[in-house]
Amino acid sequence: MHKRKLGNTGLEVSAIGLGCMGLSFGYGPAVEQQAGIALIRRAFELGVTFFDTAEAYGPGANEELLGAAVQPFRDQVVIATKFGFVDGVPTKGVDSRPETIRAVADASLKRLKTDHIDLFYQHRVDPDVPMEEVAGTVKRLIEEGKVRHFGLSEAGEQSIRRAHAVHPVAALQSEYSLWWREPEHKVFPTLDELGIGFVPFSPLGKGFLTGAIDKDTSFDSSDFRNVVPRFSEENRKANAGLVEVLGSIADGKGATRAQIAIAWLLAQKPSIAPIPGTTKISRLEENLGAAAISLSADDLTAIEAALAQITIVGERYPAHLQQRVDK
Ligand SMILES: NC(=O)c1ccc[n+]([C@@H]2O[C@H](COP(=O)([O-])OP(=O)(O)OC[C@H]3O[C@@H](n4cnc5c(N)ncnc54)[C@H](OP(=O)(O)O)[C@@H]3O)[C@@H](O)[C@H]2O)c1
Repeated sequence: MHKRKLGNTGLEVSAIGLGCMGLSFGYGPAVEQQAGIALIRRAFELGVTFFDTAEAYGPGANEELLGAAVQPFRDQVVIATKFGFVDGVPTKGVDSRPETIRAVADASLKRLKTDHIDLFYQHRVDPDVPMEEVAGTVKRLIEEGKVRHFGLSEAGEQSIRRAHAVHPVAALQSEYSLWWREPEHKVFPTLDELGIGFVPFSPLGKGFLTGAIDKDTSFDSSDFRNVVPRFSEENRKANAGLVEVLGSIADGKGATRAQIAIAWLLAQKPSIAPIPGTTKISRLEENLGAAAISLSADDLTAIEAALAQITIVGERYPAHLQQRVDK
C-alpha cells in the first residue's frame, strides 16, 4: 500500500485508512472484541497505517477496541480520533469548550492506551465556542505532546480559515463519495490554497455504492441508516441506477463497485486518504485492493459522463442533524 501526505504538516498515512466506527457503533450491534481486533490487525498486515475512531463511537468503546488492537504496532500507525459532543453522545449536541476538549483528550489517551493522539479532529463545529478558542486549545495540547496534528470534520470554509490561522490544520474529514460531491466546490479550493489534506468519510456511501444494499434490505433497529432519508426504501429504489452504472464501470475494469468507489476518490487529488469501514475481513481485503487500481483520465471522464445522467435523491442526514453541518 502506498502512502500519502495529508496536507503540509508532515502527516503521512496509508493511501487507504480504516474507518473503525462500524465495529462498535452506527450500523447495528458492535462486533465481538476479538473479531474487531482481528480485523484491525489484518488491516495493518495489509499495509493500513491510518485508523479512524472517535470518542462518540460507543461512546468510548471504539477507542478501547482500537487501542487494544494496535498495541503491538502502536508506533507504526496514525490514530485519528475526535472530540466535540456532549458526553461523547452525538444526539446530546455539540461541546467544544476548552475544558471539554482537554478532558476528552485525556480520556481518549487512556482508552487508546497511548501517550499521544496523532490526529485530533473537532467532530462538528460548535457555534457557541469561537474557532480560535478550539484551535488554541488543540495547539496547547500539541505543545504538551498529547496531540500531534489538528483536524476538523464537516467544517465550512470560514471555520477552516479561522482554525488554520491559529494552528495549521492537517486534515479536514467530511463526507465525500460518488453520491455526495459537495466538498469539491465548497471546500476543496480552500484546502488546496491552505495545504490541508482531505479524508473522505462514508466513501462507500454507507454501503450503498457497493451494491450490497437495495430496496428490500432491512437494517437492524439500532442502525443509523433507518433515519437517513437517502436510505428510505423509496430513495434506495430511486438511487438504484447509480449502483447499476457503477456495476458496468467495475466490470469494465475487472474490479468491484467498492473498489471503483475508492479508486475514484484516490484519483481526485494527491492529498486525499479515504477511510472505508467494514466489519468483515473479506470486504476489508476487497476494499484495500482499490489501492492497486488506477483510473485513467479516460476512465474518469467516462465515470463523470455516466454520473451526469443520474440524479441522486434523498438528504444525507435527517433534518435535526443537517443543522449541525457548518456552512
Ligand atoms: N466525521 C464524521 O462525522 C464521520 C461520519 C461517519 C463516518 N465517519 C468515519 O468514516 C468511516 C467510514 O464511513 P462509514 O462506515 O460511515 O461508511 P462506508 O465506509 O461508506 O460504508 C460502510 C458500510 O459499507 C459496508 N461495506 C464495506 N465494504 C463493503 C464491501 N466491499 N461490499 C459491501 N459492503 C461493504 C459495511 O458493512 P459491513 O460492515 O457489513 O461490511 C458498512 O455498512 C467510519 O468508520 C468512521 O470512522 C466519520
